[in-house]
Amino acid sequence: MNQQRLWSSLQKLATFGASENISEEGITRLSLQKEDLAARKYVIELMKEAGLSVKVDVVGNIIGSLKGVDQTKPIVMTGSHIDTVYQGGRFDGALGVLGAIEAVRSIKESGIKLQNTIDVVSFTDEEGTRFGTGYIGSKAMAGELDETILQLRDDEGVSYEEAFCQAGFQPERYKEAIRNKEEIKAFIEMHIEQGKVLEGNNLPIGIVTSIQGPVWMEVTFEGHADHAGATPMNMRYDSGLAMAEVMLDVEKIATQYGGVGTVGKLRIEPGGVNIIPGISKFSIDLRHIDKTKRIDMVNKVREAIHQVSIKRGVSAKVDVKKSVDPKVCSPKVMEAIEEACHQLDQPTMKLQCGAGHDSLIMANITEMGMIFVRSKDGISHHPKEWTDTEDCAIGTQVLFNTLVNLAQ
Ligand code: GLV
Ligand code: MN
Ligand code: MN
Ligand code: MN
Repeated sequence: MNQQRLWSSLQKLATFGASENISEEGITRLSLQKEDLAARKYVIELMKEAGLSVKVDVVGNIIGSLKGVDQTKPIVMTGSHIDTVYQGGRFDGALGVLGAIEAVRSIKESGIKLQNTIDVVSFTDEEGTRFGTGYIGSKAMAGELDETILQLRDDEGVSYEEAFCQAGFQPERYKEAIRNKEEIKAFIEMHIEQGKVLEGNNLPIGIVTSIQGPVWMEVTFEGHADHAGATPMNMRYDSGLAMAEVMLDVEKIATQYGGVGTVGKLRIEPGGVNIIPGISKFSIDLRHIDKTKRIDMVNKVREAIHQVSIKRGVSAKVDVKKSVDPKVCSPKVMEAIEEACHQLDQPTMKLQCGAGHDSLIMANITEMGMIFVRSKDGISHHPKEWTDTEDCAIGTQVLFNTLVNLAQ
């Protein structure tokens, strides 16, 4: 593979949605916003340059195919996403898409003839930052979307359906994006680790064994907005204090169960210095590698919300925005990656994955595996997210060999 070509494409993609000071403020390329739409055009261009035949499905998944010798055989699929979180980094998702394009381009250039077709996919809206849910492209492929998604609105009041239509996609035909199980032999995603395990072990890449599944909730407490000076402390229905209590409960519960819990987005209404918060809306992200423990965590958090609402005399509404089960990676795909590592004299460290990925969804319709690439200081969802040029190249070479192993 061509290390320099991959690196230039990563740097170029990073310019879409980049703030002026990218190292401090990062990249904001939310799904279907103009920065994302421009970046999509670049990815399509790159796929064409790589000699792939490109198709964009009804929900905007970009699919570049390298046709195999035997088109009756199921395809081998690889890819990731190019949307980012607020002030995200250059590599999350991007490496999995651009690395896959580079790997497949190099396979083509080296004249290797593969039996199975390889599809490189850039999935629509993995992060879920804009509409509060995520994995939309992979869910559409796996047949897990339903109409309710289309009615979700972003913070500006734009519905998902409107955003899709403005981008030129056909969301009402979302069922046409479904791929059946027999069509796909395996899905493999290369992604930065977003943790410190590989770095701690001095290794450029690793093989993922299982992926934590996230639950996202949106909680709304409604109390009474009132005068901050004229309302005595014992006569308040302060939704903000209810939220604060639950934030601490989330920390306690996640710690107690050995999982992780985060309140990352909050809004208080009306939001004035001298007004008691009337409405408080906030997100909760709960994850655990063990499904039953995660269910227990969710129940405990729900109970905490209920108790706090009684104690403070505020009403509580809980919406589950996303609930994805943790997944174990396919032994077959893990073996193909391991073989690739042996072919390339790379050690084969196995590790778990804490972040969420389209792979979680693709595992419902095919054999799924992930290659992790070392992250500097484990930092991610942050402008300082970094992976060295050489590590990107090693990951891509491992992906190259894995694809050949699966498709030859
Ligand atoms: C997205 O990267 C997530 O894991 O939430
Ligand atoms: Mn991410
Ligand atoms: Mn990602
Ligand atoms: Mn993710």
